[in-house]
Amino acid sequence: MDEPTLTTTPADGPPANGGATSSSGSTSTSGSAAPHRTATVPHGEPILEVDELQMYFPVKSSGIIRRTVGHVQAVDGVSFQVPAGGALGLVGESGCGKSTTGRLITRLLTPTAGAIRFEGQDIARLSPRELKPVRREIQMIFQDPYTSLNPRHTVGSIVGAPLEIHKVVPRNKVLPRVQELLEIVGLNPEHYNRYPNEFSGGQRQRIGIARALTLQPKLLVADEPVSALDVSIQAQVINLLQDLQREFDISFLFIAHDLAVVRHFCPEVAVMYLGKLVEIADRDTLYNHPHHPYTQALLSAVPDVKQAAIGGRRDRIRLEGDVPSPINPPSGCRFRTRCPLAQEICAKVEPPLLQIGPHHKVACHFAGEVGQHPTTPISASVLGVDEQGNQKPEAASTSELGSQPGFSDTWVDVHGHRGGSGATRSS
Ligand SMILES: Nc1ncnc2c1ncn2[C@@H]1O[C@H](COP(=O)(O)OP(=O)(O)OP(=O)(O)O)[C@@H](O)[C@H]1O
Ligand code: SF4
Ligand SMILES: [Mg+2]
Repeated sequence: MDEPTLTTTPADGPPANGGATSSSGSTSTSGSAAPHRTATVPHGEPILEVDELQMYFPVKSSGIIRRTVGHVQAVDGVSFQVPAGGALGLVGESGCGKSTTGRLITRLLTPTAGAIRFEGQDIARLSPRELKPVRREIQMIFQDPYTSLNPRHTVGSIVGAPLEIHKVVPRNKVLPRVQELLEIVGLNPEHYNRYPNEFSGGQRQRIGIARALTLQPKLLVADEPVSALDVSIQAQVINLLQDLQREFDISFLFIAHDLAVVRHFCPEVAVMYLGKLVEIADRDTLYNHPHHPYTQALLSAVPDVKQAAIGGRRDRIRLEGDVPSPINPPSGCRFRTRCPLAQEICAKVEPPLLQIGPHHKVACHFAGEVGQHPTTPISASVLGVDEQGNQKPEAASTSELGSQPGFSDTWVDVHGHRGGSGATRSS
C-alpha cells in the first residue's frame, strides 16, 4: 500500500529544547524513560469494537414542564473496529455525528444503545467508578487548543493533573514526568510554569497532546486535532502524532474534515452521513474506488490543490439541497434527498452496510464506481425485496443484516469477480 506523503514545514515557534528534532519538530524519545504500555491485544486485532452504537439526544419542549418532543438521532447504528496499533479515520460533513461518536467511545457520553468493546470489555454502560481504570487507557485530543486548555492553569498543572488524579506517580515525580512529556511533544521542558496564552496555536495543541499522553493511553480519539491550526503548522502536528504512534504503539480513532490529512494518517477510513456509516474501506480502496455516491461527492469536492494528495483529479459532483435534520431523517436511505441516483427502493428500504470486497463495506442499493453504478439494486436479493423495495412474501428474515463490526471472509461480489476468498454473489 502506498504511503502518502505530507509536506513538512519549519517548527511552529522557537526551538523546543535545543535538542535534535524529528520531522515533527519533536525530540526523539528513543532511549528515554518514555511512557510506554504494551497493548494486551495483538497488533492488527481490534483493540476497539463499536457495535450498533446509537446516541439519541432528547429534544425538549419549551415552557415550565419540559417534555421530550423528539430526538436528535446523532449516531444511529454505527459499527466499526480500530485495530491495535492502527488508525481508523472518520470523515463526513459537519453535524454527521463524528464528535458524538468520539465522545461516546471516551465515555464522555453514555450511549442510548449499542456496545463499545475496548480490549474485549464492553464499557458502554460502566459506572463512573468502573470506568476509572478505562479512562487511563482511552484519551481524547480536542479540536480547539484555545478553548481546551484552562487559561488559569500552568502547563505543568494541566499536563500533571491526570497523574495526580490517578495517583500514577508519587508527588515528587510529577514534575519530572511533566517535563519528560513536554520534551516528547517537542516543547521546552523548562516552560512547565508558563500559561497557555504564552504559546502559539501549534504549541498549545502539543500541550493538549502531552496531556492526552500523560496516562500512557492505548487508544487516542483525536477529534479534528489540526483543523484549528494554520496550514503551515498542521503537518508538524500530524507528524508528531505519527511519531508518537510508532514510538508508543498507540491506536487512533482520527476524526477530521480534511480528506488529505486522513489519507495520510489512516490506513482505514469510514465515511459518515447523518448519523450512519455509509462506507468503510482500506485507504486505497476508499480513495481510488469509492462506491457510495456520498463518498464520491465528498472526494470530488476537495479543492483542486489538494486533489493530488487524495489520489488524483476528479470531476466535481455537486450535491443539491441541505443535509436533512437528524431529528426527522428521511426514510430508507438517509442520503436519498440529495442523491442523484435515488430510486423507489431508496425511500422504502434502508440499505444495509454490505461488505462488497475483502476490506470494503458500502450502504447503498446501487453501489458502484463513478459512472458504473448498477441499474438494479445489489441489495435486493440479500434483503429479500423486489427491485422497488417491496418485501417478497417468501423471503427469509433479514434481521441478521445489522452491520457487524469488522470484515468477514465472504462478501457480496458486485463486480462478478470469482477470485476473492470465499466471495459470494448477491444475485
Ligand atoms: N448534547 C447535545 N444535545 C443535542 N444535540 C446534540 C448534542 N451534541 C451534538 N448534538 C447534535 O448531534 C449531531 C451530531 O453532532 P456532532 O457534534 O457529533 O457532529 P460532527 O460530525 O462532529 O460535526 P462537526 O464536523 O461540525 O464537528 C448534530 O446535529 C448536533 O447538533
Ligand atoms: S441507497 Fe439510493 S439514495 Fe442511498 S446512496 Fe444509494 S442510490 Fe443514493
Ligand atoms: Mg465535531
